[in-house]
Amino acid sequence: MAHVFVAGALVGYGVARARRRARAGGDDAGDVDDAPRATKTDDDAPKKRPIVVYMDGCFDTMHYGHANALRQARACGDKLLVGVVNDAEIRRCKGPPVCDERERVEAVEACKWVDGVITDVPYEVTDAFTDELFAKHEVDYVIHGDDPCLLPDGSDAYAYPKRIGRYKEIKRTEGVSTTDIVGRLLRMGARAAGEEVKEEEAKEATFCTTSARIAQFGTNAGVPTDAKVVYVHGAFDVFNRGHIDLLRQAKTRGDFVLVGVHADAEVRARRGAEHPVLNEKERALSVLACRYADEVVIGAPAMITNDLLTTFNVKVVIAEDDEPYAVGGVDVNALAAERGLYERVPRRHDCSVLGVAKRIMENRAEFEARNARKTKSESAYYAEKKHVAES
Ligand code: CTP
Repeated sequence: MAHVFVAGALVGYGVARARRRARAGGDDAGDVDDAPRATKTDDDAPKKRPIVVYMDGCFDTMHYGHANALRQARACGDKLLVGVVNDAEIRRCKGPPVCDERERVEAVEACKWVDGVITDVPYEVTDAFTDELFAKHEVDYVIHGDDPCLLPDGSDAYAYPKRIGRYKEIKRTEGVSTTDIVGRLLRMGARAAGEEVKEEEAKEATFCTTSARIAQFGTNAGVPTDAKVVYVHGAFDVFNRGHIDLLRQAKTRGDFVLVGVHADAEVRARRGAEHPVLNEKERALSVLACRYADEVVIGAPAMITNDLLTTFNVKVVIAEDDEPYAVGGVDVNALAAERGLYERVPRRHDCSVLGVAKRIMENRAEFEARNARKTKSESAYYAEKKHVAES
């Protein structure tokens, strides 16, 4: 089959590109090598075609672990298609999703390593569906994290692409999962309801943020001198469609979106002891994975200062037009307003961490049962885990 032959011939090139990308630390860094995918030079030479890779999943409460999976998947090829499982399938196979399909699709689409989304994909990856991916969507490789993905009958969900050499594995990002975030939100909800949460249940985030990870997620470019810099700041906790929309609006107002991710202490002081759900480094990674953000200030102060505006040559500061955010009675954006740099933009989605926590608490029994099951399998995974190199 010509299709299989072309894909097989390109394996080496794809891997080499991936490694170059990883070394250069950026999503487009591998593009320095535009070597053709076939060596024939006569007219009959196969046309250059990008290597299409495919990853699917639920991407519920999309987090930086998912984003890192997509980053690694994208580095295995030239074009990444992502299949998002529908709500009914998730409910049937895993239990209720926290975010509905529209929210999950939006979160995946907003990820800067994603080139296209296929909606409504089955949870159980059948051979027929895999063949459709190969034929209709011209997928070369199916990619998944190195955690086992089993069908209800216990068989490997990706047995078919593995058998025919069209499967690649990426390293799952440890220390973060939907289960973990749901657990943190359940504890927040329980505390808010006045319940006592046992110390051993209130585990801290285990994810280790390295400088390499931040570099991989970032643009590695810094703020260009002549760019119209738009500054937008906030907690960006449990990244959601409201955050995505705010960053999208920021992007339309300039050339470079600089995002101030408020320090943990700042968020705690403003919102209460249960906040933030994710720490400032975790929140910064989620923001950096968004295609509308160019750079982050990790642990930014809430108050806009002269120093901040000058250092980053900020031309516009935007904030949503809801309640003004004040510290010590002073609007945090007052200085930007005084300088004529301040613009209020509409809040188009009513999303909040508490809103997400509320959804979970409304279905508390189901989420607790699901988390208990998942926590057991996650513990088994961590007990058995082996080193897998990242792309
Ligand atoms: N993934 C990952 N690292 C994580 C979480 C997920 O690499 N910390 C990868 C999975 O291996 C999969 C893709 O992201 O290839 C989509 O995952 P998803 O279907 O959303 O489900 P889970 O693996 O269950 O993710 P989570 O535990 O976060 O729900």
